[in-house]
Amino acid sequence: MPQFNENDLTAAVVNSFEETPDPRAKFLLQELVKSLHDYVRRTDLTFEEWEYAIEFLTRTGQTCTPIRQEFILLSDVLGVSMLVDAVNHREREGATQTTVLGPFYVGAHKEMSHGSDISPHNVTGEKLFVQSRVTDLKGRPLAGVPVDVWHADDDGLYDSQKPSYGTHGPTSRARFVSDNDGRFFFRTILPCSYPIPTDGPVGEMIVQTRRHPMRPAHVHFLVNAKGYEPLITHVFIDGDKYIDSDAVFGVKDELIAKVEKRSDPRMPDGREASAPWHLMSYEFRLKPGGGTAPKPMAARENEPA
Ligand code: BEZ
Ligand code: FE
Repeated sequence: MPQFNENDLTAAVVNSFEETPDPRAKFLLQELVKSLHDYVRRTDLTFEEWEYAIEFLTRTGQTCTPIRQEFILLSDVLGVSMLVDAVNHREREGATQTTVLGPFYVGAHKEMSHGSDISPHNVTGEKLFVQSRVTDLKGRPLAGVPVDVWHADDDGLYDSQKPSYGTHGPTSRARFVSDNDGRFFFRTILPCSYPIPTDGPVGEMIVQTRRHPMRPAHVHFLVNAKGYEPLITHVFIDGDKYIDSDAVFGVKDELIAKVEKRSDPRMPDGREASAPWHLMSYEFRLKPGGGTAPKPMAARENEPA
């Protein structure tokens, strides 16, 4: 009968995974055990702390719904999401930088025609015109590329966080398909900086540890061209108060765009502007390769396992 002590216990658990058929799964599990055991030894974890951790993770799972992902949020605020992003995108070769997907890639991203207003019912936000282009690493246009866009409203909330989501459906999110010159453009409202959700266990942790929950204003883009790596990124608005202290560590210099305030009577597509507006221009450069783009959260539910 083996009598394990705090050191040889780790080797025994690592060995218990020896017959795992998938070599990558075996490696990941064995390394996870080593890291977890190390953490327990280094911190002299108490029973109370261990129980607290179990209860915290339980509540994190219980907070998840088909349109709310508290585990992604946990990964984001611990910097794990950005670390996974970093180790998978070491060589960009001039391609646009990547950042976190975040927990609000949900519901339907319906295709809309170029120039559409994706926040048509918003009457309080300042107008924003977004013009963009998708190219390869040499700057050659990529046509027919689906681009999903989404952002928070001027109240700092995503559509899926509001009670009206069930009845009104998606807003401030859409899909555009690049034209022959790789271009796409749309109207919306200027997003503002906003707090990550603080009404769940992750938000509680942020508040209790005296961190601030704010993310600088941004628009999300998921650019998914055949033959290229899916690009998951945001464009951040220059000058935001939180640009240097994003709660999820997602800002990269190259992703910050100057958003100009304009008072021209017409927007770039020639249509009339009824009030002063803002212009965001950004070009996405894709890296050749493959990979599977994530699907919006509620859309995943209907898929076969
Ligand atoms: C977001 O940008 O939507 C987001 C990303 C990470 C955590 C919370 C929100
Ligand atoms: Fe966001």
